[in-house]
Amino acid sequence: MKYKTIGILGGSGFVGQHLSALLAENSYQVHILVRQPRRYPELALIPNVHISKGNCFDMPELEAFCAEVDVLINLVGILNEKRDNGQGFDRAHVELAHRIAQACEKTGVRRILQMSALNASKDAHSYYLRSKGEAEDWLHHEARNGLEVTSFRPSVIFGHNDSFFNRFAGLLKLMPGFFPLACAQSRFAPVYVGDVCQAFVYALQNSHSIDKRYSLCGPEVYTLKQLVEYTARSLALKRKVIGLPDFLSRLQARMLGLLPGKPFSMDNYRSLQTDSVCSENDLALLGIKAHSIDAVTPGYLSNDNRKAHLDAYRKQPPFAYKKKTND
Ligand SMILES: NC(=O)c1ccc[n+]([C@@H]2O[C@H](COP(=O)([O-])OP(=O)(O)OC[C@H]3O[C@@H](n4cnc5c(N)ncnc54)[C@H](OP(=O)(O)O)[C@@H]3O)[C@@H](O)[C@H]2O)c1
Repeated sequence: MKYKTIGILGGSGFVGQHLSALLAENSYQVHILVRQPRRYPELALIPNVHISKGNCFDMPELEAFCAEVDVLINLVGILNEKRDNGQGFDRAHVELAHRIAQACEKTGVRRILQMSALNASKDAHSYYLRSKGEAEDWLHHEARNGLEVTSFRPSVIFGHNDSFFNRFAGLLKLMPGFFPLACAQSRFAPVYVGDVCQAFVYALQNSHSIDKRYSLCGPEVYTLKQLVEYTARSLALKRKVIGLPDFLSRLQARMLGLLPGKPFSMDNYRSLQTDSVCSENDLALLGIKAHSIDAVTPGYLSNDNRKAHLDAYRKQPPFAYKKKTND
């Protein structure tokens, strides 16, 4: 195996926890830089996973972390910022990409796996997608300085402790009768977290993935309304999902964007103006058979899983690792 020690930024989140477990199972030594390790005590229990306390925006701490690893995986991402002006997204995505390139060049780490998002582009209307696109472009551009970069561009990701289905589950339970839904006709191709993590492992083991940007989608396309109705059905909840017209979708985004945790914001509204579907799904190219939502969600989308729904609603992703499984 060419690489032994894998460093992860953002390893405490939903994808990070699944990916850490999968890499550890594949005999990699996994190092995770975490701001508040005490929030994730179980992470440290996974064999081959080492937690370092630190802030990836602090250059000396980031460089010290990079000095210990062969590969850096960047999963850090936010879906909302304090003020709707793009600065929070620029810092979390673009500024961090610059710092990562600098730290990797200084410490001799060449291989970087960057988590981006489908539709990420410097021309996107939402701050989230624009900043993700700029971060991705910057790292690939830095290949001229010797970096070997692969980017992953998934649609919405689902799996145990996701914040998509679990969040809608939490919201549906709060709203008896009718469920008013913004951007109901936006389309998604939900991709299983286990398949996304397999794509990262593939990239670690295949050097022809260098300088590639992989679009990752599930096998089926759904509207947001269909996915929320699916969630309600899975929970045996009788809810009438009402798609809101555009002006009410905007109004809902403005109002919910004022609440703590911003369940929905104007920037989310802007992201949803573009369908999150692949023109070509690169999972097949990597030899990974995409799982459908029907194959996975019954394992966690049920009324027994109240804690996950509550955690997703509070935006505190709980610990996801289950020994010997990817979900
Ligand atoms: N989930 C999806 O449907 C989806 C779809 C497309 C792309 N993505 C991308 O995939 C990546 C992982 O997503 P996820 O669902 O796992 O997100 P998540 O559960 O919210 O995890 C985000 C991670 O980023 C870290 N983070 C956020 N802001 C940070 C900051 N200022 N400094 C340091 N760390 C920070 C968090 O650390 P703390 O634990 O310390 O907060 C956490 O480890 C993100 O880049 C996201 O944009 C996700």
